[in-house]
Amino acid sequence: MKQPQTSIIAVDGYSSCGKSTFARLIARELNYTYIDSGAMYRAAALYFIENNLLLDGDPDHKNLQHSLERINIRFILNLQTGLQDTWLNGKNVESAIRGIEVSAIVSKISQISEVRQKMVGLQRKIGEQGGVVMDGRDIGTVVFPDARLKIFMTADTNVRARRRYKELTEKGLDVELKEIIENIRMRDYEDENRKESPLRKADDAILLDNSHMTIDKQMEWFRELWKKTCHEH
Ligand code: DC
Repeated sequence: MKQPQTSIIAVDGYSSCGKSTFARLIARELNYTYIDSGAMYRAAALYFIENNLLLDGDPDHKNLQHSLERINIRFILNLQTGLQDTWLNGKNVESAIRGIEVSAIVSKISQISEVRQKMVGLQRKIGEQGGVVMDGRDIGTVVFPDARLKIFMTADTNVRARRRYKELTEKGLDVELKEIIENIRMRDYEDENRKESPLRKADDAILLDNSHMTIDKQMEWFRELWKKTCHEH
């Protein structure tokens, strides 16, 4: 039997499920490094935008390899926030990659096989250091199939939409709940039905449906699970 990869925790799941909040707290508790793999796809998308590599909103496949070679993504600890910021080619892009422009095209970028290959390579490299909690869509299925612990997160669509609505309206954005529900459904469909590494629960992942759980309850759930995991290995 293959030994599990010692200190890697994979957190996969649907968008707007609170994966990053949960994964970040786990990392803090275990003194692990939290890595947001979605940020890497977002940084690649930003590179495509900034370098005019989009044709009518779609990535230009000509010279793709050449462009990919020029993408250098790193995570650097921000001493003020205590979190890892995403850097693209020597520039801190943590806030730029969260904007609407990137959000609008990142799904397309993340479907390109060459882009995925490059990101998976980088993710595995980061994983070599150990002590990593990584969240995304294919971490337990493709990137670290031998991760020590795999968690797959889901929540009811309406609950996820209401959380997102609250988050956006608190930021002062004018959005409609109906619109958000539609957007979540579309993103789920794209994540689950893409050809490359579609979103699916790994057979050995533990399901966490947090529709009716506060973050404190999720952490209690995690502590129990971690105790059992440490006991087993
Ligand atoms: O989690 P997020 O919304 O920041 O992810 C951004 C995009 O990247 C989203 O379209 C899903 C995709 N993604 C992926 O394909 N594989 C991952 N491991 C992480 C994110």
